[in-house]
Amino acid sequence: MPQVIFLPHEEICPEGASLEAQSGISICDLALQNGIEIEHACEKSCACTTCHVYVREGLDSLGEPTEDEEDMLDKAWGLEPDSRLSCQAIVADSDLVVELPKYTINQVSENH
Ligand code: FES
Repeated sequence: MPQVIFLPHEEICPEGASLEAQSGISICDLALQNGIEIEHACEKSCACTTCHVYVREGLDSLGEPTEDEEDMLDKAWGLEPDSRLSCQAIVADSDLVVELPKYTINQVSENH
């Protein structure tokens, strides 16, 4: 089973986490099932950017993002080449290292 490492994030998972994943699960669902509360404002329908993550290792093993995902990602806070929407990024059979962005767009508009 692939292993997915979540790097520490101050609020969402201060200790980080190392999880065993079933191939075929989205990064977002995997995190939520393990108590890592990634935001998912559109209920994982690829219509927001709150589930944005960086895939620091293993990015190539994920399927190509769809055009819809790319369009949404363009609006995400802190877009990087490693960026994916975690509800659309499906774990394949490679290990992954995932980093959560410091902010989501919701937080940026509320607090910053
Ligand atoms: S939860 Fe909205 S795009 Fe992933």
